[in-house]
Amino acid sequence: MALIIDGKAVSASVRARVAKETALIKEKGVTPGLAVIIAGDDPASRVYVNNKKKACAEVGFLSEEYALPAEVTQEELLALVEELNHRKDISGILCQLPLPKHLDEKAVIEAISPLKDVDAFHPSNVGRIMIGDYHFLPCTPAGVMELLAWANADISGKECVVIGRSNIVGKPMSMLLLHKHGTVTVCHSRTKDLGEVTRRADILVAAVGIPKFVKGDMIKEGAVVIDVGMNRDENGKLCGDVDFAQVEPKASAITPVPGGVGPMTIAMLMQNTLMAAKIQNGLD
Ligand code: GUN
Repeated sequence: MALIIDGKAVSASVRARVAKETALIKEKGVTPGLAVIIAGDDPASRVYVNNKKKACAEVGFLSEEYALPAEVTQEELLALVEELNHRKDISGILCQLPLPKHLDEKAVIEAISPLKDVDAFHPSNVGRIMIGDYHFLPCTPAGVMELLAWANADISGKECVVIGRSNIVGKPMSMLLLHKHGTVTVCHSRTKDLGEVTRRADILVAAVGIPKFVKGDMIKEGAVVIDVGMNRDENGKLCGDVDFAQVEPKASAITPVPGGVGPMTIAMLMQNTLMAAKIQNGLD
């Protein structure tokens, strides 16, 4: 029986820590503030944004939502980012992705001040992560690291395999595991004999976006398995990238979906926003 890594509980403890620190810095006259920009009406983005605003309220932050019509122009969006960059009461700026097709995501990400870039998507923050000198970590990989710590997973010298090479998860995930001295392999759609690679993993992180992609025969006995996927199966039920029923009996620890990595992403966003407020006010 694998240890089920309880993302809800770990997320609650991170958010409680953030709330406690927020109360302390409020006594010094600083209240963290998060601006969330959403353009268009993608239903999944709407749910994420609502959850982010709710989490802000719970830890004692201010939050502002900028819901822009799908037809918003690049110039209007950049003007808003510029205005928020200069606002003293806004510590963090997050532009929910994906943006409507006519907008240039890269230009928007680069317009956000690196000091307010609580997603850690700006090239300056990505570069900082690469050299291990960073303030903000991208929320999902940072959440995975918290879960591994909670599960007492030993990373140093271990075979760590990441499936997926996205800028948001796979690439930064591989760097964080490397910083903790893992031997890291990144797999992707062109990887030959994926199972042969994943069967070497002591720690396996799946971030492919394909329902139940990781099967039991791809797992080494005793592996720690982290499932970043958030998909719908053939019956419309929420499921991860890992076939939980097949993989759980072989794993020593595993995250469920839902209730694993998902709740961590927002907790780490709160942590980044608090950090941003501290840095901007000379409190770190
Ligand atoms: N869309 C999916 N995940 C994310 C995220 O972590 N941040 C933002 N801004 N948009 C997303």
